[in-house]
This record gives sequence, C-alpha cells and structure tokens, in this order.
Amino acid sequence: MLPPRPSPVTFEHLPDGLGIGVASPRLSWTLPSGARRQAAYELELVRPGGTYRTGRIDSAEQILVPWPHDELSSRERVDVRVRLWQPDAAVPSDWSAPRSVEAGLLDPSDWRAVPVGAAWDEDPAAERRPARVRKDFRLRGHVARARLHVTAHGLYEVEINGARVGDEALAPGWTVYPERLRYRTHDVTAHLTEGENTIGAWLGDGWYRGKYGFDGGTRNIYGTDQSLIAQLEVEYDDGTNTVVATDGTWRAAPGPILTSGLYEGETFDARLHDPAWATPAGADTGEWTPVRTGSRDPGTLVAPLGPPVRCTEEIASVAVTRTEDGRHLLDFGQNLVGRLRVTVDGPAGTTVVLRHAEVLQDGELATRPLREAYSVDTLILSGGGPLTWEPRFTLHGFRYAEISGWPGELTSDAVTARVHHTDMRRTGWFECSDPLVNRLHENVVWSMRGNFVDLPTDCPQRDERLGWTGDIQVFAPTASFLHDCAGLLDSWLTDVGLEQLPDGTIPWYVPVIPGEPMWTPIHPGAAWGDVATLTPWTLFQRFGDRELLRRHHPMAKAWVDLVERLAGPDRLWDTGVQLGDWLDPAAPPDDPAAGRTDRYLVATAYFAHSTRHLALAAVELGHQEDAARYSALADEVADAFRRRYVLPTARLTSDSATAYAVALAFGLLAPEQRGPAADRLAEIVLADDARISTGFVGTPLICDALTDHGHLDVAYRLLLQTECPSWLYTVTMGATTVWERWDGLRPDGTLNPGGMTSFNHYALGAVADWMHRVVGGIAPSAAGYRELSFRPRPGGGITWARTRHDTPYGTAALSWELTAAGMTAHITVPEGCSATAELPGCAPLSLGPGEHLLDTSGPRAAVA
Ligand code: BGC
Repeated sequence: MLPPRPSPVTFEHLPDGLGIGVASPRLSWTLPSGARRQAAYELELVRPGGTYRTGRIDSAEQILVPWPHDELSSRERVDVRVRLWQPDAAVPSDWSAPRSVEAGLLDPSDWRAVPVGAAWDEDPAAERRPARVRKDFRLRGHVARARLHVTAHGLYEVEINGARVGDEALAPGWTVYPERLRYRTHDVTAHLTEGENTIGAWLGDGWYRGKYGFDGGTRNIYGTDQSLIAQLEVEYDDGTNTVVATDGTWRAAPGPILTSGLYEGETFDARLHDPAWATPAGADTGEWTPVRTGSRDPGTLVAPLGPPVRCTEEIASVAVTRTEDGRHLLDFGQNLVGRLRVTVDGPAGTTVVLRHAEVLQDGELATRPLREAYSVDTLILSGGGPLTWEPRFTLHGFRYAEISGWPGELTSDAVTARVHHTDMRRTGWFECSDPLVNRLHENVVWSMRGNFVDLPTDCPQRDERLGWTGDIQVFAPTASFLHDCAGLLDSWLTDVGLEQLPDGTIPWYVPVIPGEPMWTPIHPGAAWGDVATLTPWTLFQRFGDRELLRRHHPMAKAWVDLVERLAGPDRLWDTGVQLGDWLDPAAPPDDPAAGRTDRYLVATAYFAHSTRHLALAAVELGHQEDAARYSALADEVADAFRRRYVLPTARLTSDSATAYAVALAFGLLAPEQRGPAADRLAEIVLADDARISTGFVGTPLICDALTDHGHLDVAYRLLLQTECPSWLYTVTMGATTVWERWDGLRPDGTLNPGGMTSFNHYALGAVADWMHRVVGGIAPSAAGYRELSFRPRPGGGITWARTRHDTPYGTAALSWELTAAGMTAHITVPEGCSATAELPGCAPLSLGPGEHLLDTSGPRAAVA
C-alpha cells in the first residue's frame, strides 16, 4: 500500500489560486500525518499545452518552493499535484488532490475596461448620491467559462442577472491607489445564460473619494470620480470568446443609497429600489443615462496578495431594552466590527435609524469616542412588505446599537450584527486555567479581527482607522500567531514601501492621507518607522518567506540609513518629533507622548534594534558586506546608548519600566549591567504592586525583559494584576476587546476624557505573543517554525495551559499541566519539523515530528 498523500498545494499566501497575479507562484504543502520527513518531492502541472512533471527532486523543502516550469500566461489555468518520498522509501506517496491555479490579467495590455461612472453634475465639495451602473448584453451560445475581473474608484458590489457576484465587502479595499489598485477575478460562469443578460454594480465613495481622516476628514483624496472598472470575459462551448468591458455603452443612474461613507454610515431609501434593476427585466428607463468614461493606467491594476474582507460571523443581541421614548437599545455582548442586518416591515416612508457605539454611559450610547465618525445608518421603508437590509459601503465598531423609528415591537431575531474583517485563516489558540487571562486573550483575538480590515489599522470606530505603523510593528508577532496574515501584511508593506520618502522616512500611517501638522508633512519617528525593518523580519520568522524579506529589504535599508544620518557620528538619535513611550499611563490625557521615558532613549534603542535586524536580514539574503557593516553599526549604537543612557550604577537616565524593558529586551546592556538593570525593573514594577507603567513601546517588551532576566514571577504579577492600570483591569471592567488606554473606562465607570479613547486597539494586546511563547511555551527557533522550541514557563498560580499554532508546516501544540511531582506535557511537533522541549527543571530534549508525552516527575523529562 502506498503511504498517505500530502495536502493539496497552496499558492503564495493566498486562500485559493483564482486570479493570481504572480506568473511563477510558489507552492506549499504539508506532509501527511506520520510521514515524519520528506526526502524528495515531485510536482505535476497539468497545463493547457500538456502535462509536465518535474521528476523526483531531492529536497526537504515544502514551503514556498519555486514554480517549476514556464511562467503562467494571463488566464491560464493549471492543475497542480505533489507527491513525496520519505527517507529510504523506494516508492513515492500517492499524489495529493489537485489544486488549480489560474492567472489573472498579467499584462496591462489585457485590459480593455475603462472607469465608468455618473456623468451628471456633482459638487465635489458636498455629499454626493452614489451611482449604480449597468449594461445589458446578449450571449449567443452556451457559456463554458466566464470570469469577471473587477475593481473600482471607490467601492463596488456587482450583480449579474440579479445575483450578487462574490461575497466580498468593501472591495477593492485600500491601497496606495495611484500606484496599486487591486482587482479581483470571479468565476461567474453560473451567473450567465444564453441570450439576454445584465450586469450592474452598486458604487460607494469609500477611501477613494469619501470623507476620510482627522477633524472632519478630507474628501476626494484620490479623485472626484466614482467608477467601476470591470471586464467580463466569456468563453463559449465552441471555444470562441466575447468580452463585456466597462466602456461608453454602459448606463448610470442614482441608486437608492442616498448617502454613504465609511465613517458616516449609509442612508437607503427602499422606495427607490427596484430589485430587478440588474436583470434584463429591469427596464433601461429614462433615469439611466450614458456614463462618463475615465482613464486609468492598467499597469497599476494588481491582483490581491491575500484574502478579501467578508462577513465571517453573525451575532445575535444578548439584550434588547426599550427606552421610555420608544427607542430600542441592543447589546451584542461583544465589541465587534461590522454592521447590522435588519428585517423589518412597516408603512412606506417609515424611517429606521441605527446608531452604534462601543460603550454606554448612563444607559445611553457613548458616541464621543467616535469623534466625527457618526456611524449612523438610516433605512426608509417602501411599504412593500418585509425587507431585509444591511448597509453596503460602511463599517462600524460597536457593541451597542440604538434603533429608533422601528415600526412595532423589535424582537432580537430581527436584527443581527454581521462581523466583518479580512477573512484570514485562524491559526493560533491559547487557553489556560485562569478565566480572566482567557478573556484577555479572547479580547486580543477580537481586536485583531476588528482591525485587520484589508490593512492593519489602529482602531475601527472613530475618524481614524488608519494603517498606523507603530501599532502593527508591536503587534505583528501576536498577529502572525493568531491568523495567517502574511498576504495582508505583505500587501500593506508594499504600500509602506511606496509611501516611503526618497530620504528613507517612513510615514506614521500608510496609506498617507492629509493629517494634522503632527503627522504631515511626514517626518521620521522611532518605533513607528521601525515597522520597515522589524515587521518583514517577523513575517520571515513566522511564515518562512525569504522572498518577502528580500522584497522589503530596500525599504528597511533606506530606513536604517536615514536614521544613521539623523543620528550622526555620535550614533544617538536625539532629534526631531518622537512619540516615545506613547500612552504611558502617567502621560496626561491630552499629551500621550509625555511619558516617563526619555523619548530619545527610545529612539536610539530602536535605532540599535532595527540595525541589528537589518544585519540579520542581510545574512539571510546572502549580503555579506551589509551584514558585517550593519552588525558593526548596531554594536556602535548600543555602545552609544550605554554611554549616554546608562549610569555607572547600571541605572538608566530614565528610571522607568519602559527604559529598562527596551534596554534589556533589545540586548543593549553590557553583561554585567543586565542583572542590576533587571533587578531595578522588577523593583519599579513591584513598587506599584505590578500595575502597568508602560505605553506602546514598553508594554510589548516588559514581560520578556523580566522573563529573560530572572524575574518570571514579576512578569506574571504584571499579567495577573487586576487593579488599574493593567491588562486584567480592563477585563474586570467588562472589556471584550483590547483598549487603547489602560483606563479607557475609569474605575468609577466613567469615560476617559482624552480625545483618543478607542475600545478596540490591538497595540497593548501585544502581550499575547509572550503568553503564547512563555505561558503556552511555543516559539519558532528557525524561520517558519521548521524548528520549534517548546518551553513553557509556568507561574502566577496558572496550573495548566493549552496552546496550538498551525505553522506553515502543520499543527504545533503544547498542552501542559502541573502535577504534584512536576509537569506533564503533551507536545505535537509538525511533520517535517524538529523541536527542543525544555520543561521546568529538566534538561532540553530533542524531539522529532509527531506526538510526545513528557513527564517531569522523573530525574529528567522522558518520552512516555
Ligand atoms: C492612533 C494610534 C497611533 C497614534 C500615533 C493615534 O491616534 O490611534 O494608535 O499609533 O495616534 O501617535
């Protein structure tokens, strides 16, 4: 009997292969259970021109292996299978199930579609009513295959013959539009019929021309038009083709959406909606007028690198209450990002208003933290019977909703919260004996979900929702454990590279939009700009993608070179605007950068850390000279840091937890300084009974700094503290997501008066990475988790923990429990990987792939 077969292959970091934009997509697979190791593999490609087999390739590689044959041509579809040989096996495994990869439009000359939208007069300075566009067309035969390649200036939802195409939300997402606008390819074969057909699209303003950003926002950031770019390519049974592309023959009309904005919400007048508008029966009446055609360089249209935004979960309310004046207040029990779907029936003209907020104050929605993001959806009923409706081109961050104008009694089944975010595969789980810690972890997962909405954002509710570089810089290690976010972050880092200034400056947020004087014109800042070096490195470590590291390397290098110039010969970066340990709880609510830690100490520490990582990347990429140059520079910066910021007593010039945390975690201290510095850090933490005294910079580092320098117990004290400020304080206050401020809600239940009071901000949730590695005990020790370390370090009275991560090679898991005599641990090493297990009090043990049961009650951990 042949050994079992490997998993089907995957392509790049994509959930499927349809419409891929890479002509030589890399392939990955996992080994079948029990296979242990791969000695060789063979790939088979069934191409239109014939079948190609690589023959046996002696290699253990199974992640992102190179495409083995000629490049894909546009629209080409190839079925790919893999089989493998185990060491010493004479026969290969069975072939994997085939997976198809199909190229999108790889050459700009493939595009015939041009942007089409409303031709009527619009006032670019005012609210504009969104358009719909449509086109009737005839197909003269039976359709063998049809693909829709589609994108927009603005947002779109396409229908063909009345049926929605795909299930994406907020497509095409947000990129640096002038340089990269993503189109998606859909299989629409089943939508079409021989004879008359109609294609139509709803359009929205979105990021392209909607009002976005601080202080009331800026309109028309990318352009004043709102246009669809769509190319429907139909292949008949007889092999002939026809193309229906957006052009001057399309028609436009104002739709039933009266207003629409990502921050503002949407107003929909059902009286103006003809459900048959995108079918041949939807008569092309006088309101439909010729479109205005625009132009766009098709060279800027690119295929996605990751999955789209979708509804991933529906949540029912846990409580509905009615106010005396007839409004309904709904509690969904979870702070989430998405929108409401309502089913409602009432007389024509009835206006139902949906308002959203993350928290309540005095029994009412607290909308002040939303600032100018009004987050109000309005539905005007047609009187034509029950209607199910959900806004299309907006999202809100909320746990509570207030509904007014509802005709009759509102029952909870009439309103559902639909959770939206990038539909990433969940890959990480953690659970332990402490329920409050579990809720904290759950909150981190929810904050990741709510803020990975096509790009990594700071917050999902107020008038920001921007790709703040510092936030994801600290959160990326956690994010890449919890979900497969490689494609999303690779795409966003590409935009960071595009927005980098010629001198190397990395913006505070990407894509760049007009902002307050603090943020634009752009200037370089530590911890935020270091996303350029540290995040590609994190992704390389966690996903094993060396090409990704290579692609973003010029950006990383330009950043470090800039900081080197700014620092000058003394190697101290002590100039310019720095945010320091942003949101140190001691900073005044209106000046979050004014924390306890010298902001230039933070800047020089990050300079050293980034330079060190650039040197590591240079080693990985085989750039020997750079590796030597940057590692020498990193040493010099660390020396300069010690000279300037470390006193002879090993105290730091800023005697703050964050100062010690960065110095220790970034390895900036001389060996003899580390012990005293760590002791001082522990002393500072304990002096305030392990309440948190760190902000965005110190918080992600402090537990590691303590753990690695003999104060594991103090790290647990921090984790388990429930008094304000602390992680678990927020949990005891009912948090279901991670807050931006430690005291977003103060102990008396009132809102923090600061202008930034988001209740869904992942940055401070970066502690989950420490939880996974130290409490849970799973960490990569080689890129992509090809080698793993299982090293749980229990403490804080936690008696068991179960941690699991779907690595690129397969599932790694560690479940430990304290026993009277020590610890038992159940470990799963992914097939193809090797590991070291180090249980408390035991010597390290090498483990191969498979399941292992260890018990420390003997003199040494033993495989049972
Ligand atoms: C954002 C952040 C961001 C910070 C930068 C805030 O308004 O929400 O999380 O990193 O500004 O200073």
